[in-house]
Amino acid sequence: MSLQIVRMTPEHTEEVHRVLDIVARERKFLSYLEALPLAQSREFVLEMIAKGNPIFVAVVDDKVVGWCDVARVERPVNAHVGVLGMGLLPAHRGKGHGTELINAVVADAHRAGISRVEFTVHADNDWAIGLYEKVGFVREGVRRDAVCIDGRFIDSILMAKLHQD
Ligand SMILES: CC(C)(COP(=O)(O)OP(=O)(O)OC[C@H]1O[C@@H](n2cnc3c(N)ncnc32)[C@H](O)[C@@H]1OP(=O)(O)O)[C@@H](O)C(=O)NCCC(=O)NCCS
Repeated sequence: MSLQIVRMTPEHTEEVHRVLDIVARERKFLSYLEALPLAQSREFVLEMIAKGNPIFVAVVDDKVVGWCDVARVERPVNAHVGVLGMGLLPAHRGKGHGTELINAVVADAHRAGISRVEFTVHADNDWAIGLYEKVGFVREGVRRDAVCIDGRFIDSILMAKLHQD
């Protein structure tokens, strides 16, 4: 098994779309429950690439098994801020791929002048929070009952890392 962390290209779109859809349909971790239609995903990816936003994939044995991206906030006063999202296929978790992906993407975000990377994570996602704290993200606040999946309310935690952290 050989892991590669590479910058995403338009050719990866269908595979990333599939991975994201599988993770979303687990109904536990993401803020959407299925992927956008493929055409919209393709538009999103092309826009991310055109804007120079960090977007990387984890490739194992020539197959995409995960992604991580940082979307720069469009408002001028928040242009130094990027919002991170990531996920791996279930069979590829717990093997260090997430650590490699996020380190690559955060380094690229800093290179691109994004000095604050942030996101919210479901408060019960201990695994992801473990990864984020390990690589230097800190908890900044709690959005109480911000998420409701299948009738269950979940807090979401705002986490961020500044370039100087
Ligand atoms: C969260 C996720 C990206 C982490 O990536 P990963 O490759 O599984 O994580 P790693 O193997 O790099 O481990 C990173 C840290 O996660 C935690 N972790 C790893 N395996 C774990 C397990 N079985 N149970 C709980 N925590 C675990 C540990 O803190 C670990 O650090 P350590 O190796 O120093 O102990 C991945 O598990 C995933 O895709 N989960 C589902 C989608 C998701 O939650 N996305 C984020 C939404 S905000």
